[in-house]
Amino acid sequence: MVENKEKTLESLPGVGPTTAERLREAGYRTVESIAVATVEELREIAEIGEIQAKKIIEAAKEMADIGVFITGEEILELRKELGWITTGSKQLDTLLGGGIPTRAVTEVFGEFGSGKTQLAHQLCVNVQLPPDRGGLEAKAIFIDTENTFRPERIQDMARGLDLDPREVLKNILIARAYNTDQQILLAEKAEELAEREEVKLLIIDSLTSLFRAEFVGRETLAARQQKLARHLLILHRIAELRNLAIFVTNQVQARPDMFFGDPTKPIGGHVLAHSVTTRVYLRKSKGNKRIARVVDSPNLPESEALFSVVEAGVRDP
Ligand SMILES: Nc1ncnc2c1ncn2[C@@H]1O[C@H](COP(=O)(O)OP(=O)(O)OP(=O)(O)O)[C@@H](O)[C@H]1O
Ligand SMILES: [Mg+2]
Repeated sequence: MVENKEKTLESLPGVGPTTAERLREAGYRTVESIAVATVEELREIAEIGEIQAKKIIEAAKEMADIGVFITGEEILELRKELGWITTGSKQLDTLLGGGIPTRAVTEVFGEFGSGKTQLAHQLCVNVQLPPDRGGLEAKAIFIDTENTFRPERIQDMARGLDLDPREVLKNILIARAYNTDQQILLAEKAEELAEREEVKLLIIDSLTSLFRAEFVGRETLAARQQKLARHLLILHRIAELRNLAIFVTNQVQARPDMFFGDPTKPIGGHVLAHSVTTRVYLRKSKGNKRIARVVDSPNLPESEALFSVVEAGVRDP
């Protein structure tokens, strides 16, 4: 394990091993996460005084080199660092503005069998492709909450792209989550991993299933949404700080009793709608065809694309 020595929490003035441990336990693992914390948060978590908390945050800001305004020109430079991962379908890529982007969370929602898990698998393969083939020559992390990761499917897709299936499988790191706490912790572990390894894609399939299983009944709705919101906030931070593409799935059930408007509702309700950067609604069409629609994106027009799922993976129909 190679760690950047200068950027550990302990390198901040006034942060000893005990304070560092308290911070890590509370989910603050990087200097950047301290830099964006509030004085109040830090005081409470680290059990320190206001002046010390301020000092630590200031130092973290300097060390992280954030918290200052940058020019539009610098943003242009940063945007050049943005990467896109091809989905395997040109039509779908075009719909998404070039594929699945880094520094963003992309949510696909749709009913069972609509292709969410298939897309997730395909992206794990495609992220490994060289840039001229639509990849980022990087690894993928797959957080599996429903036991749907299938190495055999990855092998099919690798062969479909003339890649060595064994090599492709080696570059995908999988972890199972059995409850929402584990899911949240694994996302933070993924951030640590992305610091050390060339990871460009983080999948959570599914983002919402464990939340739905754990929080049953109307009275728990507020607690569920609050926890989901916190989880998403962390995901956005990771995407931003590590220049990662985060791809999450969300099952919604068709409601045949509704005749007007969109017959499906994403499980996360308003929480997801507000913090996810791009939302893509998938639905089944004839045979192996699927229809994707971008929903309320700040920078993409609301339109549709067609793709299909075949033996070799996700393709244009
Ligand atoms: N080897 C394959 N060859 C062709 N099509 C396949 C293959 N494997 C899966 N599919 C297609 O993908 C569909 C399953 O899609 P997927 O598992 O992505 O659904 P999902 O949206 O994740 O559903 P859920 O909400 O239940 O998790 C199958 O019904 C089939 O049409
Ligand atoms: Mg699935």
